[in-house]
Amino acid sequence: MNKPSEIRKKFLQFFETKGHIIIPSAPLIPENDPTVLFTTAGMHPLVPFLLGQPHPAGKRLANVQKCIRTVDIEEVGDTIHNTFFEMLGNWSFGDYFKEKSINWSWEFLTTKKWLGLDPNRIAVSCFAGDEDAPKDEDAADIWRRIGIKDDKIAFLSKDDNWWGPAGQTGPCGPDTEIFYWIDEDNPAPKKFDPIDNRWVEIWNNVFMEYNKTKAGKYEPLTQKNVDTGLGFERLVMVLNQKRSIYETELFTPLNVILQKHTKKTDIKSERIILDHTRTAIFLLSEKLTPSNLEHGYVLRKVIRRAIRRMRNLEIKDYQDLFKKLTHELINGKNFDYPYIDYYPELKTNENFIVDELVKETVRFEKVLEKGIKEFNKSAEQIKQKIKDPNKQVLSGRLAFKLYDTYGFPIEITKELADEKNIKVDIKGYQKAYQQHQELSKQATEGKFKGGLADHSEITTIYHSLTHILHSVLRKTLGSHVEQKGSNITAERLRFDFSHPGKLTLAQIDEIQTQVNRIISRDLEIIKEKMALDQALAKGALGLFADKYGDKVTVYTIQNKQTGEIYSTEICGGPHIKDSQNIGSFKIIKEESSSAGIRRIKATVILNPKRSTSVRDWGSRN
Ligand code: SER
Repeated sequence: MNKPSEIRKKFLQFFETKGHIIIPSAPLIPENDPTVLFTTAGMHPLVPFLLGQPHPAGKRLANVQKCIRTVDIEEVGDTIHNTFFEMLGNWSFGDYFKEKSINWSWEFLTTKKWLGLDPNRIAVSCFAGDEDAPKDEDAADIWRRIGIKDDKIAFLSKDDNWWGPAGQTGPCGPDTEIFYWIDEDNPAPKKFDPIDNRWVEIWNNVFMEYNKTKAGKYEPLTQKNVDTGLGFERLVMVLNQKRSIYETELFTPLNVILQKHTKKTDIKSERIILDHTRTAIFLLSEKLTPSNLEHGYVLRKVIRRAIRRMRNLEIKDYQDLFKKLTHELINGKNFDYPYIDYYPELKTNENFIVDELVKETVRFEKVLEKGIKEFNKSAEQIKQKIKDPNKQVLSGRLAFKLYDTYGFPIEITKELADEKNIKVDIKGYQKAYQQHQELSKQATEGKFKGGLADHSEITTIYHSLTHILHSVLRKTLGSHVEQKGSNITAERLRFDFSHPGKLTLAQIDEIQTQVNRIISRDLEIIKEKMALDQALAKGALGLFADKYGDKVTVYTIQNKQTGEIYSTEICGGPHIKDSQNIGSFKIIKEESSSAGIRRIKATVILNPKRSTSVRDWGSRN
């Protein structure tokens, strides 16, 4: 039996024998780094030292870092993904490099004195090389010298074998990843196939020798660094010959409690409840509260997703289960792994954690209850009115109401309907959803034209710039960005849009750069009238406030030379007709406008040599 606490201790001891100083885990919510929401790897808090600043503890460090990663949230429920996990890591700041790093990883994993894993079950991947950095033959040669056969070395591209930067710029480099064959019933194949999920990645050694610049270039760093990360849950899993992290001692005491609350079996739901509850407990231990913004929204999402999964297991008392799971994780006698010794904030904030879990559960229960009542009422009516069971369908309009008013994801509605043998008109739901989006855009559009102070050349330029900004915001931040208002004068533009949190400096910079890139080009703005359906099919943003009969006016901003399209919007104008070198666009302010809505104010320093022609003076057709 390989106890988690022993494995943890061994890792730190091993790197101490190699001259490393052990540092504490940084918080999950980064203290001085606006570029990331959460600490997703041990290297985040160490970026300044990877860039060359001397670390007070020296050039060799190691630790166990608590991490949150939500990019893989949809994968949670399989055997190896979590949203909260711990990462064992060691670092060299301009000290040792590939040779020592790889040899030490091998020594720790395979020698009897340390973990004693079977060397025949190990395979590795190295960076295949591209225009930014060469193929990593150095790393592969080190592996060959250790005795790894070529068949067990895969060369993969940047998508797989490159790490960083953590934000948009910063230290990064090629990595070599170590995989372990977990199928106990079959020997490891001679050839390593990274696609076969019985090869589980356990350790990543990153050779950080590049700095990615704002311009997207990879420049050599002043020092060559090592950043490694060994996933703790996965390591405990392989050392104990388990097929899933949820079968390890890190989860089994929690699972015992969960099983007492349910008679149903649904492995995916069980795993999601265990993972998400653990994540919520750790986030709450840093005094985060659930909200609709940024970090708080992630916390709200994991709690509500866990509750939804409790429903699948027919668990009624969500609060009780949350309380018991929290109590077990913090005080449980069955854990070999004393979380509170490593993270005392769990104990200090135990009451806060439980209170907040209860409060969020109460909030969600309120809408859940009402929504279920509404659903049941409608289901009854359908059953009474329609006798043929094949024709008993919940309308898209109602499914949309459950989503809009009670926060029910369509999956919950489908599950409820399944229980009553009723179908759901999913297409109708999607249509209702789209119509809703259109209506809110229509409202926005109304504000938009009202927001144009005059139809002078400069104001018109700002109006066209607003379209470009809108589409750059969606490209940079995501398609959740929707215009929520606009006000344009000859001095500046003001643009309100939906986005859950403050933009980072890097994001502002990127948005500005993208807009400037577009407006320096030779642009033409095409105005067309078309049916609304056709406009929507073209992906046009904005809505039919400017509907003439069945037609809407669509403005497309594109590159005159290449035809590349930068923006397509339904709008009443006026807009410029074409332009070259408008000038220099600058965001002067980014602030909150109201809950969930951000406001950007921007100006343009017009280029005296610009060429611009304006169409639609004073006309909206
Ligand atoms: N930063 C790398 C990772 O997270 C190694 O620590 O995989």
